[in-house]
Amino acid sequence: MYLGSDRAAAGPVLALSAHWFVRRLQGIVIVALIAAVLAATLPMRAGRVFAAEPDAAFNALWATEPISPIPLDVDVDWDKVALGEKLFRDPLLSHDGSLACLTCHQLDHGGDDGLRLSITNQGEPGVINSLSVFNSALNFRLTWRGRFRTLDEQVESVLHSPSEMNTSWAEILPKLQARPDYVAAFGQLYADGITRTNVLDAMSNFQRSLTTPNAPFDRYLRGQQDALTYEEIQGYRMFKNYGCAACHQGVNVGGNLFQKLGIFKDYFASRGTITEADFGRFLDTGAERDRYVFRVPSLRNVAVTGPYFHDGSVDSLAEAVRKMGEAQLGETLLDAEIGLIVKFLHTLTGEYRGRPLDVD
Ligand code: HEC
Ligand code: HEC
Repeated sequence: MYLGSDRAAAGPVLALSAHWFVRRLQGIVIVALIAAVLAATLPMRAGRVFAAEPDAAFNALWATEPISPIPLDVDVDWDKVALGEKLFRDPLLSHDGSLACLTCHQLDHGGDDGLRLSITNQGEPGVINSLSVFNSALNFRLTWRGRFRTLDEQVESVLHSPSEMNTSWAEILPKLQARPDYVAAFGQLYADGITRTNVLDAMSNFQRSLTTPNAPFDRYLRGQQDALTYEEIQGYRMFKNYGCAACHQGVNVGGNLFQKLGIFKDYFASRGTITEADFGRFLDTGAERDRYVFRVPSLRNVAVTGPYFHDGSVDSLAEAVRKMGEAQLGETLLDAEIGLIVKFLHTLTGEYRGRPLDVD
């Protein structure tokens, strides 16, 4: 109300600066709130992030940065990884043999399917964009709306989903038992052979092995100054200064917070009819404050995981960044700024088994 009287008394200049001030203030409050949440969860996150690399001097290099490198090693059993990969690639896990995990999570590119909306087992567009399986074990929850806490819950959900694998353990286990190769492989690794627990364990080992370390940005964080160009570093500064890093940070450059999509500007108004998938976390909690709330996605390998957003509605990374500026920060970014941020985002593309994901 007092803003209104300011406007009346002091004319457009003050009105403009009052408007600017309110926007700034909103921004500051949001960033402060996020910072408080982060501070509260820091010990837990730090433990997870640095667990694989205890070397203190090494950690110090990026201790003051909001993003930390993906550890170079993973703690998995490599024989189980191999078995998990065989299962991941096998359409036997779907009722009619039409889908394997690999159908929607391609490992030679972004770990997703490259489609706007993922397909159903009828070959029709589904309701949501596919997520990458790369680095997914580093996220605090899984799926766009953060429905699951463990990889096992995620796998069971896909297996049972009528529009995806459409199957059950009662169907899968006998199919595996009828295959001598699986009987031998499980027999070697697990005393009790083919069971639900052991299938999930093998798949979990494989999925935890799917990290993509060694991105140019990670090499830069580890002290290799020439890993990034001047423009890419400028883009990173902008990413931090605008506040993108308030939400997209940590080892996965996201994946550790829930946030509303459309804090400053209604994201859906310009996109059109709202679908159930847009409700986000509201679908799980029924709480009004969770409407349009999503897990902040990881930006690891984002240059190779388009189309973007849970609705897959945006093809270009530049357009995604522009929309984020408006919807999440109340900022209209200049094309040149967007260009620099996109250059930085490209430096987050890592390597899977020693091969950069952006090489065809
Ligand atoms: C028909 C396509 C399809 C198939 C087949 C499929 N997925 Fe997915 N996957 C998706 C989609 C779409 C999402 C995002 C779902 C959501 O957010 O609600 C997803 C999400 C995931 C995630 C969560 C990633 C994250 O960071 O939150 C994991 C992990 C995953 N899938 C693993 C698997 C595994 C393992 C299999 C095989 C058992 C599998 N998927 C089969 C389409 C598929
Ligand atoms: C307040 C939290 C917040 C801020 C600040 C924020 N984002 Fe996001 N970002 C999100 C959420 C939530 C999503 C998921 C939206 C959805 O449901 O599709 C997202 C999605 C994205 C995506 C699409 C990822 C994908 O895989 O589809 C990109 C790219 C992105 N953000 C970049 C940025 C950039 C660049 C900035 C700064 C200009 C930024 N974000 C600021 C929360 C935020």
